[in-house]
Amino acid sequence: MKLSSRFLIITLVPIMIFTGSFLVTYFTLFQETLIESKISESTVLISTIAERLAKPTYFFDVNEIDIILDDVRANVQVLSIQAFTSNGDLISKSDISNHSNVPFIKKSLHSTEIVYEFDSDMIKISAPIVVNESIGTVVMRYSLESINQILYTYFIWIIGISLILSGVSGIISFFTSKKITNFLLKISKYSDDIASEKIPATISNVHIDELDHLKISLDIMNQRLESSKHKLLLSERFSSIGGLAARLTHDLRNPLSIIKMSIDNLKLLYGVDVVKQKQFERIDRSIDRITHQVDDVLDFVRIKPLDLMDISLCKLLKKTIEDIHISSNVKISLPEQDLIIYCDPLQIQTVFSNLIHNAIHAINNDDGVIDISTSVFQDTITINIVDSGHGIPTESINKIFEPLFTTKQHGTGLGLASCKTIIENHGGSISVNNNPTTFKIKLSKSIKNDEINS
Ligand SMILES: Nc1ncnc2c1ncn2[C@@H]1O[C@H](COP(=O)(O)OP(=O)(O)OP(=O)(O)O)[C@@H](O)[C@H]1O
Ligand SMILES: [Mg+2]
Repeated sequence: MKLSSRFLIITLVPIMIFTGSFLVTYFTLFQETLIESKISESTVLISTIAERLAKPTYFFDVNEIDIILDDVRANVQVLSIQAFTSNGDLISKSDISNHSNVPFIKKSLHSTEIVYEFDSDMIKISAPIVVNESIGTVVMRYSLESINQILYTYFIWIIGISLILSGVSGIISFFTSKKITNFLLKISKYSDDIASEKIPATISNVHIDELDHLKISLDIMNQRLESSKHKLLLSERFSSIGGLAARLTHDLRNPLSIIKMSIDNLKLLYGVDVVKQKQFERIDRSIDRITHQVDDVLDFVRIKPLDLMDISLCKLLKKTIEDIHISSNVKISLPEQDLIIYCDPLQIQTVFSNLIHNAIHAINNDDGVIDISTSVFQDTITINIVDSGHGIPTESINKIFEPLFTTKQHGTGLGLASCKTIIENHGGSISVNNNPTTFKIKLSKSIKNDEINS
């Protein structure tokens, strides 16, 4: 069954059931209320008439009785009003209408109370006229036609309103279901497009919270899929380029060290004159640059197993700094308190070396400071490396850990990517903040890690 037909049935059936039961309840209660109000009105009236007639002089004078009854009839809308003796003889003449032929209530003849009786379209109500010892009866007949008319009018109104309501809700439910069906068809096409790697057509909001939410979730899923696809593509490319680069850089190392050795020998032989010395320095710088790039590529590409051990952080930092050429304009301050960290010293040294090189580069020729500090909280050791350099442009800060991202002319853009890999292999994390440029390394404290004083 189609969704729209289901919707129609689900909407219309309850309305019909509700209207039906409402009509039955309403009419029963309403009719009773109307009749009760008529009866109470009649009771008051007939009691008054019975009292007016209850005078011996009137009771035997037909004309007097007729005058009183005509007076009532002139003021109240009744079908008929008649007075009877206790034998049932009619003692009023003026009301010999069709309605008067209807037999009056037998049980009311000797009744000392007011008696009611209903016909399909009238109420008969009789009250005793007590004159001395004898009891007569006054009988009034009211038409129920006006009540039935009111009920009929209301009935037509209620049916009309319920038909209009059913029509309106039917139309609304039809269009809503159409909207939902169309949306679901679009969504299924959307997911088919995603599955078949096509660009899915945009779907506009339907302003139904759950469906709009579904659309948003699918959009997010699509975006995530796109970014995973992109990452997969990149990682595939990197893995093939990585293999090639690893081989290439490895093969470059031997000729590079031979060139370096030969240049050193040539320097000893011919490096006395200033012009030649300058040439040798240029060759040296170029060799250093190639060596740095080869090392960067190898650090990034090689997945080396961790050789973990306990080592003093300060010792590790000092060893790293020894291998770096630091110009006099840069001051490095080491942590006041040493810590034992459980790590692969060579790999962590690569991390420090990359971060310090970057900081030196950022400080450039200005006077600057690289401040290295540590803190311990619960099971985590934090190492902060803060520099007073030019800072990282806001637009680049989210990209600096991506492989190959560099703003330097001779950079590989692999330094921070290697740092991230190494720290994450140690189960830690590395993050960056600006103003001042702060690289924060978090490592898990090993069991053997007791704080020591430097
Ligand atoms: N301390 C820093 N201050 C300012 N910018 C930095 C700092 N450290 C890194 N960067 C920015 O992050 C980029 C990426 O750094 P990363 O170490 O990965 O590569 P690189 O330094 O450019 O190249 P390589 O490390 O091969 O010399 C740098 O080019 C630089 O723009
Ligand atoms: Mg770098």
